[in-house]
Amino acid sequence: TSEILIAPSILAADFARLGEEIAAIDAAGADWIHCDVMDGHFVPNISFGADVIKAIRPVTKKVFDVHLMIAPVDPYLDAFAKAGADVITVHAEAGPHLDRTLQAVRALGKKAGVSLCPATSEGAIEYVLDRIDLVLVMTVNPGFGGQSFLESQLEKIKRIRTVIGDRPIRLEVDGGITRENAAAVAAAGADTLVAGSAVFRGKSSADYAGNIAAIRVA
Ligand code: DX5
Ligand code: ZN
Repeated sequence: TSEILIAPSILAADFARLGEEIAAIDAAGADWIHCDVMDGHFVPNISFGADVIKAIRPVTKKVFDVHLMIAPVDPYLDAFAKAGADVITVHAEAGPHLDRTLQAVRALGKKAGVSLCPATSEGAIEYVLDRIDLVLVMTVNPGFGGQSFLESQLEKIKRIRTVIGDRPIRLEVDGGITRENAAAVAAAGADTLVAGSAVFRGKSSADYAGNIAAIRVA
């Protein structure tokens, strides 16, 4: 198994000081920077788009892990690639032609991810395994930070770990991750953990290193 990566979600950061917040989690040991893009259509909330990602891109050299909760997604892939995304993750539920969307992401020279909502079966990735670099299992219903982890998803994480086999595909888990449940999530087979509130709680950059370390140690 590969080493565990921690990807703080900037959705939980102070948007008025977004650049400073990213510099702080970079210094605090974040492996990836997780960017949650919401459109008020695929999910019932609006966050930020490609222009914001472009503006914060120069703050860090770390991987920008862009989670697109938008539908349609195809018309915007080019903008997120140009904004500086390294990984572009789309939802399996966001459109009828997932295979085409994943081909488009790779054609832009980016790593391609597929995200599954809690009610979506792991079968959704079965025929696109050769087109993806990452699977993102949602352990909350997407749309908001600060929700509770759905235990029902542990079984799905285990099944996807088996389905991946020895392919070079990361298994990322997103939603309600805490220092208390991180061990169970990793034991189920996850190798990349997204955490919003668990990293940014307290809203003091002094705590970020401790919060990231606590998840990593768990
Ligand atoms: C939910 C987002 C998550 C979320 C994580 O739609 O995709 O990345 O913000 O935040 P926490 O860790 O607070 O659940
Ligand atoms: Zn996310």
